[in-house]
Parts: sequence; structure tokens; C-alpha cells
Amino acid sequence: MTGAFIAVEGVDGSGKSGVVRHLIAALRARGHDVLGTREPGGTPQGEALRGLLLAGADDAWDPRAELLLMTAARVQHVARVVLPAVAAGRIVVSDRYAGSTLAYQGAGRGMDEGLIHDLHRSMVDDLWPDLTLVLDLDPATGLARSRRRLAADAIDEGRFESLALDFHRRIRDSFITQAAAAPGRHALVDASGPPDTVQAAALAEVERFLTFDPERRGR
Ligand code: TYD
Repeated sequence: MTGAFIAVEGVDGSGKSGVVRHLIAALRARGHDVLGTREPGGTPQGEALRGLLLAGADDAWDPRAELLLMTAARVQHVARVVLPAVAAGRIVVSDRYAGSTLAYQGAGRGMDEGLIHDLHRSMVDDLWPDLTLVLDLDPATGLARSRRRLAADAIDEGRFESLALDFHRRIRDSFITQAAAAPGRHALVDASGPPDTVQAAALAEVERFLTFDPERRGR
């Protein structure tokens, strides 16, 4: 059996977590061996870094330190979780991956994208998912949704949500640009509709990929 690496990206509040849960459940129901994971996180060390990265004030981290810690969490995740699972024939579904670094640390925080690409090449051997779903949504809508959720759940992961709308517009534009630059391994999903619709559209893209593009799978 050939493994696959699928990532789901999007602006805050794009319904990404619900899409990830839906994909995992639907693929399992179809008999696939699926590993759900996330970034930053996905390993005990990465989850500890996530706690440090997402708590506190918006400017708590120097952008360079933030980039290195995101990358450190990714190295651990790729080496210890993603690659072994794909090699074992599993389908890995990751809630965010390196596209988020280009978007948030690059377009958002202004870190040099060449540097981010260099780090990505040297640290994870330029590993990109076989398929990246980009949940596309106007950030104003996404922010309103995610503020409601954080308040309702009393979660202290609001550091990134508290940033200005302009920041989130750059994030969205970066994801669209990334998808346009490598259309063979991206699918743009309209995330403006109700959760059921968005989740069904995301699953349809994954099924299309698994059915029609087996040659893109398995690294
Ligand atoms: P996530 O839990 O997906 O947030 P949400 O569900 O609210 O969208 O991700 C946490 C935050 O981490 C998110 O705001 C984006 C940020 N992030 C980066 O800045 N760089 C990265 O490389 C990754 C993976 C995430």
C-alpha cells in the first residue's frame, strides 16, 4: 500500500479543524489507515513548543526565534511521525504544515521567504505534502468565527488571532500564491459556506487525489 501526506491550511477560523476531523473519519470509514496530526505539534516535543509559541502577547517572540521554533517542531514531526507513517503505507493528515510558515512567518511577519525555503530544504529535505488543501476565506469572516470559538472555549491560543486584519489578508494571499505556484500539489477549497459544504468539498478533493493521481503519492 502506498502512503500519502496531506496537509490542510487556511486562515484562522476557516473551519480547518472541522475539515481535518471530517477527512480523518471519512477516510477511515473507507478503510484507509489514517494518522491525524498537527503543526506546530504532532510529537511530545512539538506540542511543548506549540504551548510556548501560541501563548502570550502577539509580540512575545522575535520573528526569527518564532521561525526557528516552528521549524524545530517540524523537523521532529517529519522525522519521527510523518515519514515513518508514510513509509508504513499510512495516510497522514496534518492540520497545517510548512505552507503556514511561508504564510505567517513570511508574508505575515516579514521574514525573508528565501530564508524560509532554505531552512525547509536543509532541515526537512524540502518535503512538501502530496496534497495541500487550502481553505480559502475572507479573513474578516474567519476572524469573527474564531474569536467566537476562543471566547466560548476559553482557550489561550489567541496570540495569532489578535493580530490585525491586514496581517491575515497577507496570510490569505500567501496561501493563494503558494497554490498557484504549485497547482499540482494544491487544491483551493472555498471555505465561505456552512461547515458541511466545506467539509464535503474538501473530501471530494482528497478523493480525487487518491483516485486519479496515485503517481503523486508515496515519497
Ligand atoms: P491552528 O491551531 O491551526 O490555529 P487555528 O485553528 O486558530 O487556525 O494553528 C495555530 C497557529 O500557529 C496559527 O495561527 C498559525 C500558526 N502557525 C505559524 O505561524 N507558523 C507555522 O509554521 C504553523 C504550522 C502555524
